[in-house]
Amino acid sequence: MPSFMEPFRIKAVEPIPFPTAEQRRAALAAAGYNLFRVPARAITIDLLTDSGTAAMSAAQWSAMLSGDESYAGARSFERFELVVRELTGYPEVLPVHQGRAAERILLGNILRLGDISVSNTHFDSTRASVEAAGGEAVDLPVPAYEGVPNQFGGDLDLEALAELLSGRSGHRVRCVVLTVTNNANGGQPVSLLNIVGARKLCDEHGIPLYLDASRFAENAYLITEREAGYAENSPRDIARLMFDLADGCWASLKKDGIANIGGLIALRDEKLAARCCEQLIAFEGFPTYGGLAGRDLEALAQGLLEVTEPDYLRYRAESARWFGEQLALAGLPVLQPTGCHAVYVDAGLLLDHIPAQQLPATAFANELYLAGAVRASELGTLVFGRRDPDGGPDIPAPRELVRFALPRRVYTASHLEYVVDAAEEVCAKAAQLRGYRILRQGGALRQFTAILEPIQ
Ligand SMILES: Cc1ncc(COP(=O)(O)O)c(C=O)c1O
Repeated sequence: MPSFMEPFRIKAVEPIPFPTAEQRRAALAAAGYNLFRVPARAITIDLLTDSGTAAMSAAQWSAMLSGDESYAGARSFERFELVVRELTGYPEVLPVHQGRAAERILLGNILRLGDISVSNTHFDSTRASVEAAGGEAVDLPVPAYEGVPNQFGGDLDLEALAELLSGRSGHRVRCVVLTVTNNANGGQPVSLLNIVGARKLCDEHGIPLYLDASRFAENAYLITEREAGYAENSPRDIARLMFDLADGCWASLKKDGIANIGGLIALRDEKLAARCCEQLIAFEGFPTYGGLAGRDLEALAQGLLEVTEPDYLRYRAESARWFGEQLALAGLPVLQPTGCHAVYVDAGLLLDHIPAQQLPATAFANELYLAGAVRASELGTLVFGRRDPDGGPDIPAPRELVRFALPRRVYTASHLEYVVDAAEEVCAKAAQLRGYRILRQGGALRQFTAILEPIQ
């Protein structure tokens, strides 16, 4: 039995489908063996993402009713702006419809051809925005999970950053981005010590530091749990310390906004904000709604207050920890320590007979779907592998991870027990699993649309 309990009770419910084994096989084949293309009506437990999948609170639903849908100067924007300013301390607040719009606008304003953006790890959409601006995205994560599990596996490698900044390409570095938590690197937190170190190096070289704050509250909570000296601080206070150290942030509020849509850019620099505002108007909407409805801004304002509640964050971390323990007991190589928003499994270790170019993480995730209509996501070579410019085999991702993302306040412990049973079934037949080949793929973010075929 889990040692945690959901700190809420359920007021509205939604039935979940239970497709038969035959229906699962047909749905996967019709989707070109790509779980993104499987319709949600064929999924029993959907752990594809924690993004935009949250259950909102009664307070959020009731706030939505008072949404002000005025085109300009809506009351709902004023509430949103106040909540964001009080949380971050940044005076300039621009709403956008989701995180990648914020990335496109902000990074498009900062970067020019040949510039470098350095990060603990750019998320895939962040990398796409850097590259679309003509820049180069350089990831400098600390080595996580080697030997002793690293409590702050999301950190930026400060030594490598110092070396890059004082080396030949140093003058090309235009910004440093800390993704908190580091979604692409096991969902691990970034320590305050690391943010302080990054700030110092940025100051020495006159470079701005930004946070991709999509999971700022979960990062703050993990700091209170893991970093010496902060156990007595509230997650909200820690979040403020994090924001204080940076020049600004962007966020997909589909995560720690605990809502189904939304994002933001928040900055200290008035001039940069004015430039971003021009693009906001051209591509998203008037600056007081930025592509969102007034009711969305109300839900987000309320969500941003709820997300730093210690009981909620404790439940988030404890449920991920318990779920990770159960998966490990079922025989899966679970990355430790677990974070908050997901549990990651190293499918490359379990399926070491499948070469990276044959997508072992995809093989695991697809088999999990066949076992119990559970949808997880591959974060291996399909997502993070690099295309060989000469048309050769893909350059493999550093790890073949499968991510079991945990939508906020959606699934209970018994739902997760069902997932563990399905994963155990996959483990039992691991040696028989085969890889996949890519039949068709797009450019950036190919995982969303690729068509695959099982290798016989
Ligand atoms: C760390 C991080 N940054 C940015 C994004 C992009 O946000 P969105 O999906 O709202 O465009 C994501 C989405 O998963 C993310 O995890």
